[in-house]
Amino acid sequence: MTQNRLTIRRPDDWHLHLRDGAMLDAVLPETTRHFGRALIMPNLVPPVVSGDDAKRYRERIVSAVPGDAQFEPLMTLYLTEATQAEDVVAAHRAGLIHAVKLYPAGATTNSDSGVKSMDRVTGVLEQMAEAGVPLCVHGEVTDASIDIFDREAVFIDRVLNPLRERVPKLRVVMEHVTTRDGVQYVLGAGDSMAATITTHHLIINRNHLLVGGIRPHYYCLPIAKREEHRLALREAACSGDQRFFLGTDSAPHLQHLKENACGCAGVFNASNTLSCLAHVFEEEQALDRLEAFASLNGPRFYGLEPNPQSVTLVRQSQAVVYPAEIETSDGPVTVFDPGFDLYWAVH
Ligand code: DOR
Ligand code: ZN
Repeated sequence: MTQNRLTIRRPDDWHLHLRDGAMLDAVLPETTRHFGRALIMPNLVPPVVSGDDAKRYRERIVSAVPGDAQFEPLMTLYLTEATQAEDVVAAHRAGLIHAVKLYPAGATTNSDSGVKSMDRVTGVLEQMAEAGVPLCVHGEVTDASIDIFDREAVFIDRVLNPLRERVPKLRVVMEHVTTRDGVQYVLGAGDSMAATITTHHLIINRNHLLVGGIRPHYYCLPIAKREEHRLALREAACSGDQRFFLGTDSAPHLQHLKENACGCAGVFNASNTLSCLAHVFEEEQALDRLEAFASLNGPRFYGLEPNPQSVTLVRQSQAVVYPAEIETSDGPVTVFDPGFDLYWAVH
């Protein structure tokens, strides 16, 4: 008998871009509708680099939460070569931040202030390890000679593994892992390592992005890889293994900046993520593990309780209707199109 109802603890999103101002106002309700908490990425312009910045950004998010929604933004700091360990540790101890994000300089959207030399941040990372502050990494090298499809695998060899050998106590999350190499690295690394997986990387491979015409709304970083990698991500997400959890990397850009001769990287999937995930987990005959991936493994890694509330997913006979785009006062943002109808609706 096919299952057509599933109740799980209210999910959290462990990797979310909310931006600021008009964009924040437009996209935040798409997340608060379904998620209890989200780990908020700090790549604003200028980035969120200090405890004070995080406090003020948090206040702007809280004021933008729609009336009746219960939502807690969990803040991160953007690691720079000028980051002060004392500021990081104090903000973490105060409960203001939950992690620090490493962007290799030039790796992605708004990463110009990122880290050029890991040597210059080792001191801060050692103190974070002592204080139990997790490091979230954008795991791609920026070396121009490395092919874009190889940048994650090369990052593991050149940056991540040496870092973990140098600071073994540091808790590290490999954000938006996109390769079999990344999954295998995490599986071999013990309990101090975890990884987030996005919704879209469970659904698209690089053919979806490039065959039959270039599809800018599937362009993100790390870029979608070949099919064998998508299958490895599906296996990891659906395994129930506590080291893998949902980070949507929902990253809004105005439509005209994606449908552009030099389109921005980012997929906006907050609106239909849970319907997409239920579809994927059903295909993998793993609906009973969706709760671990979306609602339990993340809080466990971050030392928090799962949300007390629950959500119920119902499999309808008619396709779920969701908006193709979200309006902002600066123009529309296109919602991720998985390429098939979705039947799991959130109640
Ligand atoms: O595709 C991406 N978009 N990858 C990132 O790492 C950043 C994000 C953004 O901020 O738009
Ligand atoms: Zn991101």
